[in-house]
Amino acid sequence: MRIALFGSGGFIGSNLVEHLLEATGHQVVGLDADDEKTRDIDTRGRFECHVGDIRQAAPLVEELVETSDVVIDLIAHANPSMYVSQPLEVVDLNLFQNLTLVDLCVKHSKRIIQFSTCEVYGPSEGRREPYSEDGANLVRGPIRNQRWIYASAKELLERIIYAHGQQGDLDFTIVRPFNFVGPKIDYLVEAGSIGGPRVFSHFMSALVGKGPLRLVDGGAAHRSYTHIADATRAVQLVLENPDECRSEIMNIGNPNNGTTIRELASLMLELYEELTGSPAESSIVEISGDQFYGAGYEDCDWRIPDVRKMERLGWRPQLDLRETFKRTMQWHLDRLNGATELPSYLRRNDAPQVSRRSR
Ligand code: NAD
Ligand code: UGA
Repeated sequence: MRIALFGSGGFIGSNLVEHLLEATGHQVVGLDADDEKTRDIDTRGRFECHVGDIRQAAPLVEELVETSDVVIDLIAHANPSMYVSQPLEVVDLNLFQNLTLVDLCVKHSKRIIQFSTCEVYGPSEGRREPYSEDGANLVRGPIRNQRWIYASAKELLERIIYAHGQQGDLDFTIVRPFNFVGPKIDYLVEAGSIGGPRVFSHFMSALVGKGPLRLVDGGAAHRSYTHIADATRAVQLVLENPDECRSEIMNIGNPNNGTTIRELASLMLELYEELTGSPAESSIVEISGDQFYGAGYEDCDWRIPDVRKMERLGWRPQLDLRETFKRTMQWHLDRLNGATELPSYLRRNDAPQVSRRSR
């Protein structure tokens, strides 16, 4: 199978390329604005990467779609600080640019696996049953809380794709990931930075930089974390079971790995001491969402996936919460301690990090 992977250079993309090359015989052709995370991959002669901006590479994008059997779309701005600081850029990339890929898949009769997000479920409003793809309501906050523009853009993209499927002109599967963690996630920042990458990278940066782990709004929010190795195995199953997954929305997440962010901070402090053998010199401090992200930030308070659809494909996540974070932290420590020259995403710098790769 020849796979066109848009967003191949990101956290999920680079791990997915590596997994598909190792575990399958598929050919992968990628496009990303940044290829740093795929440069060290053994291509085995089956991975080709184009570096470019999807907005400025229309002929190439169409050629990649037309010459592949399936399209996987991972391109998006996925860091919450951008949802409040650059909401129009987020909606332009995450909805309108992604729609150009959908239109090409319709035009050339190609299957698309579209990455959406667990964030479409929104705030829980007291719900405590795992979110099911076809049963749970999708909830949003007020318009003035711009955080929801990301989930709104992803939701509308899902609805348009679904409508195409119903119309009979698009073979699709939508994936909703729940907080994947692993090697090559986001990028490290100076300890004490605000905004920027997702929480793992902030806490890891704080630990190695001996700065504070900042708990936004007290760290009461809850997430379910999934190791990227479990996640990429799940994506492979979606890819290789087109009939079972046709016109389906699939949660990918580990329902047994739930934690509050406060508990996560304590776990990472404990693991840091275990892995390095020395006491962590970081403290845990609190900060408001407005101070950390800016006005318009509101949080998802609770997230647990219903994964019965993935289980029917034979998927069982293997790595528990502790092992998920232990392995990810160990990967970072190995590189920080070993390499003479670090890739830019592992260098801690205080350059504006609202979006490392926004062009
Ligand atoms: P990421 O930011 O690491 O990857 C996104 C990639 O898109 C980046 O490599 C970036 O360079 C690329 N990109 C951005 N703008 C581009 C442009 N104009 N042209 C070409 N490439 C461009 O994010 P990720 O964590 O790998 O997420 C991948 C997808 O999964 C996104 O759609 C995201 O919304 C979704 N998702 C991820 C998670 C998660 O746990 N990581 C959770 C929910 C949803
Ligand atoms: C983000 C994206 O919006 C989604 O693409 C995606 O669904 C999700 O990541 C994911 O990776 O699955 P979110 O879970 O809010 O959503 O991402 P983080 O930035 O990692 O935040 C998680 C929690 O940690 C939030 O409550 C946030 O306020 C908190 N946080 C973040 C801190 O307490 N301290 C920090 O330094 C950073």
